[in-house]
Amino acid sequence: MKVSVSFLSDHFKPVDVIKMVNNTNADYIHVDVMDGKFVDNKTYTLSDIEKLSNYMKKPMDVHLMVSNPKKYIEKLAILNVEYITFHYESVKNVKELIDLIHSYGLKAGISVKPHTNASDIVDFIDIVDLVLVMSVEPGKSGQTFMNSVLYKIESLSRIISEKNLKTIISVDGGINDETATLVKEKGASMVVSASYLQCTDMNSRVDLLKNL
Ligand code: DX5
Ligand code: ZN
Repeated sequence: MKVSVSFLSDHFKPVDVIKMVNNTNADYIHVDVMDGKFVDNKTYTLSDIEKLSNYMKKPMDVHLMVSNPKKYIEKLAILNVEYITFHYESVKNVKELIDLIHSYGLKAGISVKPHTNASDIVDFIDIVDLVLVMSVEPGKSGQTFMNSVLYKIESLSRIISEKNLKTIISVDGGINDETATLVKEKGASMVVSASYLQCTDMNSRVDLLKNL
């Protein structure tokens, strides 16, 4: 399992979490960008991310929970970013945005809220690199995993294997050792976590998830 650690927190400073993540076997640092429009909360601006990136030793997996994702791409592309994921619900021309992300040599991800159906994004599965299934309503950390998304993960995973694609499924929200096991069984190969990993046991918990 790939592990992406979110530094979103009500308790810790982003820089402190980032430094902890640097010393683990995590694959990515997950950057939760919220604009106060697509979701109620507001987090980091592009200039905040640029400053924080100086402390990061892991490639970024950026999760744009914003109403205008297009304006972030060019600036993010000059940083150590591997994935840029935007919300299907936030854009009109999905293919145009995927092409724009790819034009900078980055991997593109499409995210779906818990109540958005797999069938809505089926046309884009073969042109994205990652599908980010939200297992909580986007907007804050510390929420409970919604079991209802397991069926969606299973459907997406079936479509991906039927089409013989390399697209990966990542799951974000309420992830811990138990829920990560469930999503893995349904075909996810990456998990995002904030609260479960932000503790003194971060190292061993990352390893535990990675070895699932
Ligand atoms: C929620 C964010 C998540 C969040 C996960 O909107 O996209 O990445 O940080 O936090 P936990 O793991 O606490 O649910
Ligand atoms: Zn996220």
